Amino acid sequence: MDFFLDTGIISEIEEAATWGIIDGVTTNPSLIAQTGRTQEEVITDITKIIDGPISAEVISTEREAMIKEGAKLAEINENIVIKLPLTIDGISACKWFSDNNINTNVTLCFSANQALLAAKNGATYISPFLGRLDDISHDGVQLINEIRQVYDNYGFQTQILAASIRHPMHVKECALIGADVATMPIKVVKQLFKHQLTDQGLEQFLKDHANANK
Ligand code: E4P
Repeated sequence: MDFFLDTGIISEIEEAATWGIIDGVTTNPSLIAQTGRTQEEVITDITKIIDGPISAEVISTEREAMIKEGAKLAEINENIVIKLPLTIDGISACKWFSDNNINTNVTLCFSANQALLAAKNGATYISPFLGRLDDISHDGVQLINEIRQVYDNYGFQTQILAASIRHPMHVKECALIGADVATMPIKVVKQLFKHQLTDQGLEQFLKDHANANK
């Protein structure tokens, strides 16, 4: 399972990159806006830290404009993945990018049927948003299950990129189902390391060592 960091904050990416477990980065217009910088500046900086897929989302909403904007973003670096919203125009633009060998991440997916459409047009990644479904009392993890089954039924190669992850249970459940990627904020990545028995055990080991070496 690949781990992507879901952020536009460079210091977070630099910090997590040292842990060796981050395979890529996802951004969206809201995350870029939080940085107060342009998307091009942020994405260019990320390419200097992470040698893996980096999702940059188009702002345009019409097919032709999406293609133009996405093609320009793709020129920044070969690792750029063009993020497209799950609309008719977005899915249609996805086909153009697939035909032109440019990787795509179809975002804002909330149903298995939407995921099927993205796969039919050769999306590299589909991003189902777990947390936002949970927020409205729907089962986000169940959506990952359904998409896994649909893709496996037909042998689609589109990778399931579990997004809008809010806590470590989301990560575990997605891993059990077989999601290909989980993208998460740095806070959740840090939580994955934690276990109180690890902390207690280490404290005891260090105490015993110190006592024995007085
Ligand atoms: C993923 O690509 C999205 O940018 C992100 O996971 C959305 O998460 P949120 O629902 O916490 O905003």
